[in-house]
Amino acid sequence: MPKILLDCDTGIDDALTLLYLAALVRAGDAELAAVGTVHGNVDPLSGALNTLRVLELAGVEGVPVAVGAPRPMAQDVHYAVDWHGRDGLGDTGLPAPRGVPADEPAAAQIVRLARAHPGELTLLATGPLTNLGAALLLDAELPALVREVVIMGGAFDHPGNITTHAEANVWHDPEAADLVFAADWPVVLVPLDATHPTAVGEPWLLKLAGHDSEAARFATRVLEFYIAAYTPVLKRRGAVIHDALAAMLAVDPGVCGYTERPVRVELRGELTRGTTVWDARSLPADDHRRPVRIATSVDAAAFQDRLLTALLAL
Ligand code: BDR
Ligand code: CA
Repeated sequence: MPKILLDCDTGIDDALTLLYLAALVRAGDAELAAVGTVHGNVDPLSGALNTLRVLELAGVEGVPVAVGAPRPMAQDVHYAVDWHGRDGLGDTGLPAPRGVPADEPAAAQIVRLARAHPGELTLLATGPLTNLGAALLLDAELPALVREVVIMGGAFDHPGNITTHAEANVWHDPEAADLVFAADWPVVLVPLDATHPTAVGEPWLLKLAGHDSEAARFATRVLEFYIAAYTPVLKRRGAVIHDALAAMLAVDPGVCGYTERPVRVELRGELTRGTTVWDARSLPADDHRRPVRIATSVDAAAFQDRLLTALLAL
């Protein structure tokens, strides 16, 4: 059973991912050791309060939620108000959580838990990579202590979703992302190429909306804002629940097909800063970075079924 530390920017698809993880925890299929939050969709304190709200709604108690980096390493901070609303949850005005954030920065929490459980921790990152980058700078031995790093981020053959070529999580902190791809640890990367084909549509949304539970009502409500943002992109009513695919792969990698390539982040390009670049040449790689396992294909029906089953089980 994977021991997961989720680093996120909750966020509507992050919130659905938390519900999915909560269902796995309640079924005994995963352990959620801790959560850390980072700037991205919202500021990290709002992200932490959203996280606590969702975990409380899902009936998962005792998971520490640490607040992390409020800004990227080398650029201004931006929030995704158009996609997630000012509060990160589609401006649904949810009540404050009962719990409070942990008294420890998110990067320090990563290092502490990795040291306490050497070789056991899966770092699941569904936001910008500033906390993971900071944790690498705090402890040079971190890569040897972590079991796996699963990241929602990047775009290769798929267009970007925040600039023409860049995906949002990498674009929000390119320097931190490049540190993470340069480190000597096993990384699974889940780019837009794998997440976009999983877009849920009307039949899936109707099944969720038709279910009588607090979790299904919450998911349906927060998804409305996200669907409104996605409908012009998809040209049909629907949404891409990106982060849940990364969570699923942390538990069962079989839902995707992969290719292994070294990955770098463009840090200077005038039009392409924040773009992920893989070395796809058949010549021996002249890049000595450890190859990243990149999800390039997906069983979309399996993803949609498993996510819906988990959400309806809560
Ligand atoms: C990623 O960006 C965020 O807005 C989503 O939560 C997801 O993590 C998709 O590019
Ligand atoms: Ca996210």
